[in-house]
Amino acid sequence: MRRVLVAGNWKMHKVPSEARVWLTELKRLLPPLESEVAVLPAFPMLPVAKEVLSGTQVAYGAQDVSPHQEGAYTGEVSARMLSDLGCRYTIVGHSERRRYHHETDAVVAEKAKRLLEEGITPILCVGEPLEVRERGEAVPYTLAQLRGSLEGLNPPGPEALVIAYEPVWAIGTGRNATPQDAEAMHQAIRQALAELYGEEFARRVRILYGGSVNPKNFADLLSMPNVDGGLVGGASLELESFLSLLRIAG
Ligand code: G3P
Repeated sequence: MRRVLVAGNWKMHKVPSEARVWLTELKRLLPPLESEVAVLPAFPMLPVAKEVLSGTQVAYGAQDVSPHQEGAYTGEVSARMLSDLGCRYTIVGHSERRRYHHETDAVVAEKAKRLLEEGITPILCVGEPLEVRERGEAVPYTLAQLRGSLEGLNPPGPEALVIAYEPVWAIGTGRNATPQDAEAMHQAIRQALAELYGEEFARRVRILYGGSVNPKNFADLLSMPNVDGGLVGGASLELESFLSLLRIAG
């Protein structure tokens, strides 16, 4: 019922010329897939993605967007610009932006709204830091973040939204959540989404896991009933490991 999504978050890696070679190779080597694949490079790579990936089954999108629609906001990139570049997805609320750019839930919600206005699916990230998990408060913390980041948001349907659970302590550390811990959190997230948007929406919306996903742990994570794919950082940079993840997703 829910199509698996494997999304590569390149973060601040690669330059456009490298992206061109990488994406061209991906296109050439892509196995036949039932799952969906997306690449999320930094803004300057999006025109390259459009050129190389248009008309293929590989979706692409950005890692962030402005909370404003248009105007005198130097350095900002609008949802309309991303839409014009053909973005299908865009990350909002990544913990690195919450941490280094002090993004609040309210700002994340505004960004998600701008994306929905342009028909772009937000990949909305939530997840707890280590001290919160150690206090045993991971679920209430993450659900509060989820509700705050969805405040006032009305996705037109379950395909219009993707949630990514990324425990902060698992990002880039080589220490992924156990499949059981990920599943417990995903279940809690789905329940919260049912309360917000109804049972049917919650049954169909995709919830990805992110945080040290690699070809060794991906199959076990994906075998969990409420894990609908991965938001992958480090292991999405090397073509070989990204292709391995795609083969595992099938
Ligand atoms: O958005 C994906 C990310 O935060 C996870 O990064 O390197 O742990 O896979 P990584």
